[in-house]
Amino acid sequence: MATVLVTGSAGSMGRLVCSQLAANKHSVRAFDLPSANFMDMPDNVTAVCGDLTSVEDNRKAVKGVDAVIHLAAILPPTADEKIDLARKVNVEGTRVLVEAVDLIAPNARFVFSSSVSVYGVPAIDQEVRVSDPYNPDDNYAKTKADSEQIVIRSDLDYCVLRISGVAIPVFQEPPTRWPFRPNQKIEFIHRDDAVNAIVAGVTSQSIENNRVINVSGGPTWRMTGAQYVADYFNMIEVDPAEAIYQDVQGHFAWYMDEGGQEAFDYQRNPYPLYLDQLQLDITRLMEG
Ligand SMILES: NC(=O)c1ccc[n+]([C@@H]2O[C@H](COP(=O)([O-])OP(=O)(O)OC[C@H]3O[C@@H](n4cnc5c(N)ncnc54)[C@H](O)[C@@H]3O)[C@@H](O)[C@H]2O)c1
Repeated sequence: MATVLVTGSAGSMGRLVCSQLAANKHSVRAFDLPSANFMDMPDNVTAVCGDLTSVEDNRKAVKGVDAVIHLAAILPPTADEKIDLARKVNVEGTRVLVEAVDLIAPNARFVFSSSVSVYGVPAIDQEVRVSDPYNPDDNYAKTKADSEQIVIRSDLDYCVLRISGVAIPVFQEPPTRWPFRPNQKIEFIHRDDAVNAIVAGVTSQSIENNRVINVSGGPTWRMTGAQYVADYFNMIEVDPAEAIYQDVQGHFAWYMDEGGQEAFDYQRNPYPLYLDQLQLDITRLMEG
């Protein structure tokens, strides 16, 4: 059993990460803003309220931990509207946390949730490799690239997970404009698989060659934007011809695995299963 600090623990993925760690009998310290909702956390999860940008809060939170999972961040669209806030939390907050771990728990494994957005817009037919250069094209992606560098340049036992677009199998209103072109290659990931990768980052023994990995859905999730949208629209009985797409390439692609799946064993929810789960949710809504 390890003591694991999870920042951003009240967020969409943080809650599931805490639950999975608790189910694996780890002792979990759930760190998030005092305003966050800590309700319904499992038994061996202790809520620790604090602000990622506070030196004092971070130092208190990391005392005695064996691992840190760093998820707290400002995400789009807020990250591209509130530029200073996103920089303060995503970049400076990561710096403060890394310094606290380095000082107080220097042997702790440090798992950082980054994003494939750091690659920016890839060439149309290029499969994206981890060694591809940063080319961030919005503020969120810039903050993720900068915070990755703080982690990578530290002396910590780190791993950086570049997570693809996370697909949640519950009905959500479709966006007014899809953030990719119809002919663009996309490879999203089931939220549970992103959570699997994050949790595996704590215990994986094969981290030496996998310090930075792409975390994406795998073969069944590789498709075009048009296919993804058609599957969704058919399910909610809307004509796919009505979909409106971005008229420039979005920052999605197919991602090279390069050993990440073997090391972290996280891809357990194929795309057809996601569609079945989504269909169930839509049926439940229609009947309820
Ligand atoms: N959701 C995605 O599609 C996606 C894709 C790639 C990477 N990621 C990354 O995964 C991580 C988790 O994403 P999520 O979808 O669960 O996000 P989320 O927005 O649901 O959760 C983020 C959490 O961070 C907390 N937070 C914000 N500012 C804070 C501060 N100053 N101090 C303490 N806590 C603070 C928020 O209260 C929130 O609970 C993020 O780092 C995100 O960049 C997400």
